[in-house]
Amino acid sequence: MVSSLFLFFILFLVSLLIILALIVRPKSVRIPIKSRHVFITGGSSGIGLGLAHLAAAEGARVSILARSPEKLAEAKRSILLATGVEVDTFSADVRDYDAVSKAVDESGPIDVLVVNQGVFIGKELEKQSPEEVKFMIDVNLLGSFNVIEAALPSMKARESRGPASIFKAGIYGYTAYSASKFGLQGLAQALQQEVISHDIHVTLLFPPDTDTPGFEEEQKKRPELTSIIAGSSGSMKTKEVAKICLDGIKAGKFTVTCHFIGFLLSLAIVLACFH
Ligand SMILES: NC(=O)c1ccc[n+]([C@@H]2O[C@H](COP(=O)([O-])OP(=O)(O)OC[C@H]3O[C@@H](n4cnc5c(N)ncnc54)[C@H](OP(=O)(O)O)[C@@H]3O)[C@@H](O)[C@H]2O)c1
Repeated sequence: MVSSLFLFFILFLVSLLIILALIVRPKSVRIPIKSRHVFITGGSSGIGLGLAHLAAAEGARVSILARSPEKLAEAKRSILLATGVEVDTFSADVRDYDAVSKAVDESGPIDVLVVNQGVFIGKELEKQSPEEVKFMIDVNLLGSFNVIEAALPSMKARESRGPASIFKAGIYGYTAYSASKFGLQGLAQALQQEVISHDIHVTLLFPPDTDTPGFEEEQKKRPELTSIIAGSSGSMKTKEVAKICLDGIKAGKFTVTCHFIGFLLSLAIVLACFH
């Protein structure tokens, strides 16, 4: 008798959760890319450059922002060669709000903002200098705040141009890097609530190891154990990751993961934390 009551209670609870999930589930949305303004920070290399290629090929007006004018010029040339599209380039450091704000204003109202810039120095925490920690937090987290704050007013003010999107791209040896990225998760969750009434959709990407120039550099320095753990989920080609990103943006998804093993690895890490 007690066990059937318990079973009934569990069934009731599960049904309630399913009903709740159905009620609060956000309605599906499509974010168009063609003829929209796609602004990509860190667009001169790796995943950002891959996304810039894809968005240009799909008929978007594309702007890319990064520090090095040489890398920006090379990226512009490669996109022009591959797609025939001339992208706008902006040289600025995301840590400098005024420079970012100037670039965003010059580029014009943004429909799809891809906050992709990132730096990673993989090391165990006790081997990481305070300067390295600060550097990652400044570029990855505070830099993202700068970019979003600069772009948001004009994104909100865009009138009847269809839904908009803000897109943001931890394991052993990644303590400071993970802290900077976890901060972004909190940012994204709260921001989504703030901007949904303006039909702006936030997407977070959880990329696996991706064969970008940044990743190549980082691999030379990271701890051996990090390579073993990260290696178990395999690395992906920049083009594949960029395609998954753009599909995620277009589908208005809140989170985008790239492969099943990566998803399982992230679950395993969460469970290990609760052990
Ligand atoms: N590749 C991976 O395996 C991997 C895995 C997980 C997450 N991610 C994340 O995915 C994103 C892209 O990674 P990626 O591997 O494609 O990187 P990447 O090849 O190193 O490219 C980084 C881009 O960010 C720009 N950038 C760096 N610091 C900047 C700053 N202070 N201000 C403005 N732009 C800056 C770089 O240009 P300049 O140097 O000229 O400024 C470059 O365009 C990052 O957020 C990264 O954390 C990558």
